[in-house]
Amino acid sequence: MNKIKIQSPATVANLSCGFDILGLCLDKPYDEIEVIKIDEKKVIIDIIDSPYSNIPDNPLENTGGVPALGIIKDFNLDFGFNIKIKKGIPLCGGMGSSASTASGVVFAINKILNQKLTKKEMLKYALQGESVSVTDAHADNIAPCLLGGLTLIRDTKSLDIMKIPISDFYVSLIHPHFHISTQDARDILPKEIKLSSAIKQWGNIGALVLGFSSKNNSLIKRSMNDIIIEPVRSKLIKGFNEIKNRSIELGAIGCSISGSGPTMFALCDDKNIAENIIDFSNSFYKKNNIGCDTYLSNVNNSGPSII
Ligand code: HSE
Repeated sequence: MNKIKIQSPATVANLSCGFDILGLCLDKPYDEIEVIKIDEKKVIIDIIDSPYSNIPDNPLENTGGVPALGIIKDFNLDFGFNIKIKKGIPLCGGMGSSASTASGVVFAINKILNQKLTKKEMLKYALQGESVSVTDAHADNIAPCLLGGLTLIRDTKSLDIMKIPISDFYVSLIHPHFHISTQDARDILPKEIKLSSAIKQWGNIGALVLGFSSKNNSLIKRSMNDIIIEPVRSKLIKGFNEIKNRSIELGAIGCSISGSGPTMFALCDDKNIAENIIDFSNSFYKKNNIGCDTYLSNVNNSGPSII
């Protein structure tokens, strides 16, 4: 295979209380990435025009370029790659945009290399790509993006990552038009937390994982509660309380910040509820003169797909 074109999906990191350890793969929005084998042993990146095309085409500064260079070097390939990236996932929005590019490039190159890379190697290279956008990169976007479904990062350093069974859900994504960089959203977090808060949080995480794997929506509902990160970050998101409260009133199972924000997500078991949340959010931001994109997605259980 000399070339391949794929879709690489958005993800919801944290999923409320699972800061840095839980991530969910969506079916939209997504990036489109084409990787073409070239004779020269180098990486050429072309950014295809889109509303989110403001990303570097220098491979050393691009989250897809870095893993491609790493794979060429480590596997001593005698060829290179032309990578064409059409961003469909808003930048700095909290939907795993940088991870989607990193993971999509690794997925596509692995297909060209006849699946030479193990799952762990794919995660390793995608994480190297994610490191371009944030210091101390975390795997809660690249893992769900590459593996699909709901992933649990037991340990980032050893890439001990597993999929948690999950049934289908509707996910309303509400992306008000302001940028929050992951780094800034991390810098404002407390460096230490009280033991009593930690106990509440890990009770919720354990129960949330059990809720998903045992298809117990009422357990998911009462566990999807982040008492540590959300109260700090939500202050950066105008309208957060209004969107969250209304989403719960409308029947969402849970609602929180997607990744480091400002996107919010509402998890729903009913399409009408998810649509009503989107309608409310659009009119809320319109009334407040703030631009907003919304997406209605399902859980994507397989990760990137070939177009
Ligand atoms: N877990 C990371 C954070 C994800 O919340 O900072 C960011 O995409």
